[in-house]
Amino acid sequence: MAKTAELIVDGKTYKFPLVEGTENETAIDIGNLLEEAGLITLDLGYKNTGATKSAITFLDGDKGILRYRGYSIEELAASSNFLEVAYLLIFGELPTTDQYKKFSDDIKKHTMVHEDTRKILDGFPSSSHPMGVLASMFCAQTAFYPESLDPNRSSEAVYLSIIRSLAKMPTFAAWAYKNAMGHPVNYPDNSLDYCARFMKMMYALPAEQYEIDPVVADALDKLLILHADHEQNCSTSTVRIVGSSKASIYSSISAGINALWGPLHGGANQEVILMLEQIKKDGGDTDKWIAKAKDKNSGFRLMGFGHRVYKNFDPRAKIIKKAADDVLKKLGVNDPVLEIALKLEEVALRDSYFIERKLYPNVDFYSGIIYRALGIPVDMFTVMFAMGRLPGWIAQWKELRENKEPIGRPRQIYTGQNLRPYVAIKKR
Ligand code: SDX
Repeated sequence: MAKTAELIVDGKTYKFPLVEGTENETAIDIGNLLEEAGLITLDLGYKNTGATKSAITFLDGDKGILRYRGYSIEELAASSNFLEVAYLLIFGELPTTDQYKKFSDDIKKHTMVHEDTRKILDGFPSSSHPMGVLASMFCAQTAFYPESLDPNRSSEAVYLSIIRSLAKMPTFAAWAYKNAMGHPVNYPDNSLDYCARFMKMMYALPAEQYEIDPVVADALDKLLILHADHEQNCSTSTVRIVGSSKASIYSSISAGINALWGPLHGGANQEVILMLEQIKKDGGDTDKWIAKAKDKNSGFRLMGFGHRVYKNFDPRAKIIKKAADDVLKKLGVNDPVLEIALKLEEVALRDSYFIERKLYPNVDFYSGIIYRALGIPVDMFTVMFAMGRLPGWIAQWKELRENKEPIGRPRQIYTGQNLRPYVAIKKR
């Protein structure tokens, strides 16, 4: 017998079916609530609301578990690579050797972008934040590939849009950086792998020979894996709701880039480094800044701490923390803000304010320290997050389309004026 939930309103009982997932999460299916009971639910920030059913990523916030298509993030980060993880997220299974080679070769064929994209790039002053440049260049692809405006055109067309998105993201990211630096852009060198190709586009200068540092390329690949998907977070939910209107993959992803930009979401990795630098400049008194983070009137939050879902350690933070140590040692970098970050974590995790609210370091707390050691400038940190999150956005957009989900259109509780007659201004 299907399990149900009962709702009693004004003495009347309504029954709703329970939906159970493969990891025993349970939801009340209120699909008929308005029709049956004339009621809607209210849940600011959707803290208790499931927007969809998905087979892509599972996370357990209490146990600190994260899996992509059933594989643990720990195993994937230790043994896989970003393109293999991208294939897994998007197509549901790890690729065979042939599938991987075709996927990687297809991506190499599309790393160039239409030269007219340079005209869009040239329109951005070097003061532009790279995230705004990235979102604009991504959305502009609808102009060069108008067939993408019909997302249901054919599975071949969808595959081509997926390949083009993955192939051009590093080019757009590197060009956004070059625009900020006032440097000439570089074109993709397809003799290199994904991360090395990006690094050369980003760092190579006309006057110098650029050598790929394998330590940097490996660290970057691991960071992209760790950011690749995270179920229904703010930016992914944005990609889904834009995609639900049958908008193209490029405009849906461009919307996701903009949502990720916010300092409470992907923009936090940039804010963490700015915060650590501020604490260092202020003398490194971590107790003082922990006290400010606990003081609601200070307007200061411990960036990189806390999470809507994880009420335990973010498993990605643990991996990144160890990787930060390894990378800094291998590169011989001694970053004083790492010591401040470690001290902040130690003090916060002993403090009742953070313990009671289950606030732990999240994925953004240590990532900026590695990015900085890799020579990536602070306002490119969230661009790196977007590069990593791209396969997740694609996978979720594709799943939504394949499941033929309805257009997203939440309801509201109206709290404004009741009906009142209009009186023309001269008579008021
Ligand atoms: C990402 O959703 C995802 O999966 C996101 C992400 C992904 O991979 O896509 O994991 C990536 O966005 C990670 C989060 C990056 N953001 C930050 O690090 C910014 C700092 N963190 C917070 O602003 C906050 O923790 C959020 C936004 C992450 C979560 O906010 P919630 O779930 O809405 O929680 P809340 O703001 O209601 O906080 C609950 C309590 C409040 O105190 P009380 O009102 O109960 O007294 O905890 C406090 C908050 O004031 N609190 C913090 C805090 N985070 C929460 N206090 C101090 N410092 C913090 N960082």
